[in-house]
Amino acid sequence: MAKNLVIFYSRKGSNYVNGEIRNLPEGNTAVVARFIQQAVDADLFEIETVKDYPADYKACTEEAQKELMGNARPGLKQYLTDITDYEHIVVAGPCWWGTYPMAVVSQLEKLDFSGKHVFPVMTHEGSGLAGAPLALRKHCKGAVIGEGLAVRGAEADSSGETVARWAAKNLQ
Ligand SMILES: Cc1cc2nc3c(=O)[nH]c(=O)nc-3n(C[C@H](O)[C@H](O)[C@H](O)COP(=O)(O)O)c2cc1C
Repeated sequence: MAKNLVIFYSRKGSNYVNGEIRNLPEGNTAVVARFIQQAVDADLFEIETVKDYPADYKACTEEAQKELMGNARPGLKQYLTDITDYEHIVVAGPCWWGTYPMAVVSQLEKLDFSGKHVFPVMTHEGSGLAGAPLALRKHCKGAVIGEGLAVRGAEADSSGETVARWAAKNLQ
């Protein structure tokens, strides 16, 4: 079993890329999660919400903002409950209004992070890591928060080398 775990959320479909709306067959964060797995031995866990977010980009931003303002905990199709065997846990997600989607919090709150090393990874369209490190400090109680990685969504497909360098440095 790998000692590295990547917990990620990613939304495929209509998204805002370099100033225009595009249809993404695979979400940007999913691409980055796969690059981490290819670079170091890692298990992947994908966070999936029971209720899909709107396919339309603008409608999705409105729904996401409502969830953030309401401190919502969207229901997930399945929850990971045991991370005992992992040393390093990467929490990867898109930047939604400056932080992780609330569905990521739904998952993090189910886990005991005592003694774990946790790494923020965020894909974004300009905000960088934004509130990701702070969110992990808040929701991964007892964890040591390591070096983060921000990848511009539009550059996810070509980020393999950057991601591999970061993974080799932090997850070995
Ligand atoms: C609901 C929503 C809110 C977003 N908010 C931000 C933001 O605050 N800052 C930013 O740089 N990008 C923002 N974006 C762009 C995404 O972070 C970016 O496209 C990301 O790579 C999407 O990853 P995914 O395809 O894995 O879901 C937002 C996108 C969505 C859908």
